Amino acid sequence: MDKQQLLNELSQVSTPESLQQRYQTYLGKKGTITLAFKTMSDLSPDERKEKWQVLSALKTALETAYAEKEQQFSLKEINELLEKELVDISLPGKKLDQGYYNLLVKTRREMENIAQSMGFIVELGTEVVSKFENFEAVNIPITHPATEMHDTIYLEQKDDRGENYVLRTHTSSAQNYIIRKHGVPIKAVLPGRCYRFDEMDATHDTMFYQLEGVYIDKNISIANFKNVITTFLSATLKKQVEVRMRPGFFPFVEPGFEIDARYEYIDPKTGKKQLSKWLELLWAGMIHPNVLKNAGVDPREGWTGFAFGIGINRVTAMKYGIKDIRYFTNGDLRFTKSFT
Ligand code: DAH
Repeated sequence: MDKQQLLNELSQVSTPESLQQRYQTYLGKKGTITLAFKTMSDLSPDERKEKWQVLSALKTALETAYAEKEQQFSLKEINELLEKELVDISLPGKKLDQGYYNLLVKTRREMENIAQSMGFIVELGTEVVSKFENFEAVNIPITHPATEMHDTIYLEQKDDRGENYVLRTHTSSAQNYIIRKHGVPIKAVLPGRCYRFDEMDATHDTMFYQLEGVYIDKNISIANFKNVITTFLSATLKKQVEVRMRPGFFPFVEPGFEIDARYEYIDPKTGKKQLSKWLELLWAGMIHPNVLKNAGVDPREGWTGFAFGIGINRVTAMKYGIKDIRYFTNGDLRFTKSFT
């Protein structure tokens, strides 16, 4: 056994497995060197001593080389693992998609907050209402041609009066519920979905959002209304708004108004102040005594008030300059994301 040759061979071993094998071959229980130690009995004491020294030196040298090699392998393994599992903490993290508010929801929430800051409570109501709530309670007799103002979606289920429930065609259907629930005086807004049988196009949808406002107290006047709505619209559109009221007919108010708004803006082309066109934005009026009576309030006690209804889709379209309201509900994330 040539020591140098054995060491050379060992240095060329390339896997931990073959290193282990070599160890067993020479230094294991039945290894050549281990056995060689045991076959010295027929030698003379001097020869034995000499051979023992040679073997011992060989054993020590091999063991040292083996231990070094073993350490090399485990270092290599650790380095490879580190390389593979390396986390570079200086890299930017992956952004989690957390979802986005639909623009209509965004506008609805803003309007709710503004109303609350003006002392209105926010009510919810239901989308399924009785025919009574949708029509009669707000002074639209079931036989009145006004019932045809809305092309209504009826449900199969019937209420206590044996009448089919309807998907509310306007948030005014909640007036009766709000007044009964809270009594008077009351200042409330109620945003929510409404449904009509309509052909869908860029400005009509079968489902749309409205926000109803109800304000009842003693001695409430049209002047109060004009002030409240000017403040509310200015905050909603984030512009100083001027309001114009034209007469309009709605069975649940008397007098009724159609309301236009305009505002000053800076023309991006000329950089000069400009006045916008009048935009029809909402409908309103002084609550009809029959509506109060239907909700258990006696108008002879001096209760008066106003109600208004705003199309949230319309306000949102105006705020963001959107020409086709179908974008609000078609689920195209590119649209929603572009406003976040
Ligand atoms: N409910 C009406 C509609 O959807 C809008 C409306 C008009 C609401 C006048 C009101 C109001 O509160 O006073 O067409």
